[in-house]
Amino acid sequence: LSFNGQEYEFPVITGTENESAIDIAKLRGASGLITLDPGFKNTGSTSSAITFLDGEEGILRYRGYRIEDLAEKSSFLEVAYLLIYGELPTQAEYETFSKEITHHTLVHEDIKKILEGFPSNAHPMGVLSSLICSLTAFYPESLLQNRSDEEVNMSIIRLLAKMPTFAAWAYKNEVGHPVNYPDNSLDYCSNFLKMMFALPAEKYDVDPVVASALDKLLILHADHEQNCSTSTVRIVGSSHASVYASISAGINALWGPLHGGANQSVIEMLEAIKADGGDAKKYLDKAKDKNDPFRLMGFGHRVYKNFDPRAKIIKKAADDVLEKLGVNDPVLDIAKELEHAALNDQYFIDRKLYPNVDFYSGIIYRALGIPTDMFTVMFALGRLPGWIAQWKEMRENNEPIGRPRQVYVGANEREYVSM
Ligand code: MLT
Repeated sequence: LSFNGQEYEFPVITGTENESAIDIAKLRGASGLITLDPGFKNTGSTSSAITFLDGEEGILRYRGYRIEDLAEKSSFLEVAYLLIYGELPTQAEYETFSKEITHHTLVHEDIKKILEGFPSNAHPMGVLSSLICSLTAFYPESLLQNRSDEEVNMSIIRLLAKMPTFAAWAYKNEVGHPVNYPDNSLDYCSNFLKMMFALPAEKYDVDPVVASALDKLLILHADHEQNCSTSTVRIVGSSHASVYASISAGINALWGPLHGGANQSVIEMLEAIKADGGDAKKYLDKAKDKNDPFRLMGFGHRVYKNFDPRAKIIKKAADDVLEKLGVNDPVLDIAKELEHAALNDQYFIDRKLYPNVDFYSGIIYRALGIPTDMFTVMFALGRLPGWIAQWKEMRENNEPIGRPRQVYVGANEREYVSM
């Protein structure tokens, strides 16, 4: 076995042609067979009945429903209900669910004191994960074991209800503005937008085009089976930590640029192209350079070998939103040129390097007036129901505590010699 540039000898039991699945090796100094798979890239570490995705075919379904249908016909809260409880809600169930969420949007006044303790240069993701984790202090019963289903459900409702408040407050802290309290006469996305953008003593009307675009974006991000943040939520929850602590851990995992930062990188790349004269074609050619290829952000996907189904929907949403809002942003024009050139270039077609969901989501967020370092917060807002559903499924299945094994590759036993 070759690992980190060194050779190690293990009795190999079986192997695979897939380079990311490492040979099964006998663990030195301990009993049992394990599979070395750094990053759990190719081992089925859990089974789940929530989200199905087939990267070859470009299929994504939540609880069996095609994401295309859900994005077109459902609201984000309906999709949240579906993910968490397994079925689309009836009218009566939906009314109760959304009423409960609306009822819990307010947060304890002392949480504002925690917020005020953050410097204004605090990254909103750090603020968000801290405020979510602080709910364990305001609702200490969430730490108790053997809670009834109703009690666990109340924690879930509180999370869904307070997340937009925390997300908007993290932004207000960053820009140094006073926070807005929730407006419970509004729907989920409109309330969030008003808390984000309303200024004191100014009337603020939420643009329905913006609210509906945001609702769609959140649906598209609501779950994506196992990945860094989702498996983090499951593994933290597997120790029976509270749902607030588990979701806070997921937010931190998403914060890493390799996971949640892709759409931010896209916008930064577009800004760099703009600063260099705005010639999209030049950068497309540079991306094909064999010796020193320019890395095009927002193209291709780790899982999808075909068009990411979310990208198709979001591309259309981006076109609609930009047209309806009459947005005129040179960076967005560069994005469109880049996309158009790539979709018509055989090099990219052959390699299936399609613009992915992150390419378009940053463009829409920017058109909606959401600043770049809030992009991961928006991702977390959308992913919340998926994380909750994964946490709940793991607990309901009584899954054992997550306990990765390791292949020891350090020194053999050495004789201790005193200095
Ligand atoms: C997601 O939606 O979670 C991203 O596409 C990242 C991933 O595929 O893991």
